[in-house]
Formats: sequence, structure tokens, C-alpha cells
Amino acid sequence: MNTAPSSVSIVTGASRGLGFAIAQQLLARGHRVLTLQRSPNPALADSGGGRLEQWSCDLAAPAEPARALHDWVAALAGTGVASLTLVNNAAGLARLAPLGEIDADDLAQALRVGLEAPLLLTSAFLRAGAALQVPRKVLNISSGLGRRAMAGSAVYCAVKAGLDHMSRAVALEEAQRPNGARIVSLAPGVIDTDMQVQLRDADPAVFAEQRLFASLKSEGRLDSPDAAAAKVLACLDRADFGTDPIGDVRT
Ligand SMILES: NC(=O)c1ccc[n+]([C@@H]2O[C@H](COP(=O)([O-])OP(=O)(O)OC[C@H]3O[C@@H](n4cnc5c(N)ncnc54)[C@H](OP(=O)(O)O)[C@@H]3O)[C@@H](O)[C@H]2O)c1
Repeated sequence: MNTAPSSVSIVTGASRGLGFAIAQQLLARGHRVLTLQRSPNPALADSGGGRLEQWSCDLAAPAEPARALHDWVAALAGTGVASLTLVNNAAGLARLAPLGEIDADDLAQALRVGLEAPLLLTSAFLRAGAALQVPRKVLNISSGLGRRAMAGSAVYCAVKAGLDHMSRAVALEEAQRPNGARIVSLAPGVIDTDMQVQLRDADPAVFAEQRLFASLKSEGRLDSPDAAAAKVLACLDRADFGTDPIGDVRT
């Protein structure tokens, strides 16, 4: 039996895109990985190395997944955990159009998955993880659009600005605790995923920046999910992780 202390990572939205590549690379490093998404991807099981557990859950209704995460983290006590990391990656876009033209359910879904879920999951992670007395990190996947406003994506801009500011506040709180967690809200660059497909398939009549996203793809300026995940993990590995709670892989 392997009794070496394990690095434990939790990744939301690991069924595809950036989250899949992050989970894959953590597993290859030998981490124990828990993923949360609606449709777990069986291909992750082939990533080798670490132990994988995948939960099927809808983060638009995050209260129950947060309770379950609390209990899962609390149950790690005494199991030989070396470190604990939460990566809040899952997010979705509402229809790309002016705010007044978007269906309320569509807006609420994007807000819940992108901001309410990370808040509730981070709270549960911090509460249950404090007792373990191991290094803890929270990495929120933000976006340049949390820092630069863009017409046609008000809810996404609000979600990512909210993640950034939540990270600043939690960093202040955790700095006051013995063995407090470290937290960063990181813009991951532009990545060739389904989210980019949605952006360039949007209607330019209501989303003027559609042309920008189409050109990012045609000019080959998107990172592959693997390359972007490697940049995200390099941020997690930095000795000064959390010194500045706001980061961008491009700087
Ligand atoms: N792609 C880019 O250029 C870019 C740029 C800046 C920031 N980002 C950020 O990077 C992160 C990953 O984006 P991506 O491009 O990889 O997106 P993606 O390919 O669309 O993947 C989104 C992930 O989120 C999960 N998800 C969506 N709704 C969910 C729900 N209701 N409950 C649970 N999980 C849900 C999806 O899983 P299920 O569908 O199985 O639930 C999927 O695994 C996001 O935070 C995004 O905002 C991306």
C-alpha cells in the first residue's frame, strides 16, 4: 500500500476545455483529484498517476455540492494529506447580447455557476480544510474580462470581477489566520475551447466583438488547453503564490 502523503486537488468543470487539461496534468503528477461537473469525462481516468474521483453535479445549484465538498474534505483528516488545492474553473456564458435582451434564467445560470458556486465551494473548502493543518491554495480561474469591460457580456464581466474581488477579500481574511490558505484569481489567456466557439458563433448584430474572437482563431492566437493548463499549474507552483491575489498568465 502507498502510504506517502498525497497532494489533493479539487477541480470544477473538468469534463472538457481548460479544466480537463488541468485535471489531467494534476493526475499525471500523481495528485489525488476530485472533479465536479454535470457530465464527468471517462477519458480522464486514462491520465495515469493519481487517484481520480468524479462527481456529476450541477453547479447552478451549488448548495448541495458545497455541503458534499465540506464533508469530503473533512473526511481527509488522518489519511495522509500533504496539501490541498481547490481550482474553481467551471463557468459558462449567457447569450452574448446586451443585458436587457437576455433571458433571466440564462443570466441567473451564468451568475450561479461562475460566482455563487466558487463562493460556496471556497467557503466549504476553507471551513473543512482548516482542521487538516496542511498548506492550502485556492485558484479562481478569472478572465481579462473581469478587468476590461466588454459590451454584450455584462454578466460574464460581473462574474469575473466578482471572483477577483472575492479573492482579494479572502486573501486579507486568510492572512490573519495561522496557516491561512493562499488564494489567487488568475486570467488564463485565450484558449481554444467550447467557450471560444460560443464567442465566435455569436450574432455580430448584437455582439460587436464577435469579429475579434473570430480573428483570434483564424490568426492562430489561441492557446491549446494543454498549454494553458501548464501555465495555470506554473502559477500554482510559484513560491510566492498568493502574494498578489490577482494574476494573469500573460504577465
Ligand atoms: N476559453 C477561453 O478563452 C477563456 C478565457 C478566459 C477565461 N476562461 C475561463 O476558463 C475557465 C474554463 O473555460 P473553458 O474555456 O475551458 O470552458 P468550456 O470548455 O466551456 O468548459 C466549461 C466547463 O465548465 C463546466 N460547467 C459548465 N456549466 C456547469 C454547471 N452548470 N455545473 C457544473 N459544471 C459546469 C463544464 O462541464 P459540464 O458541461 O459537464 O457541466 C465544463 O467542464 C472558465 O472559468 C472560463 O471563464 C476561458
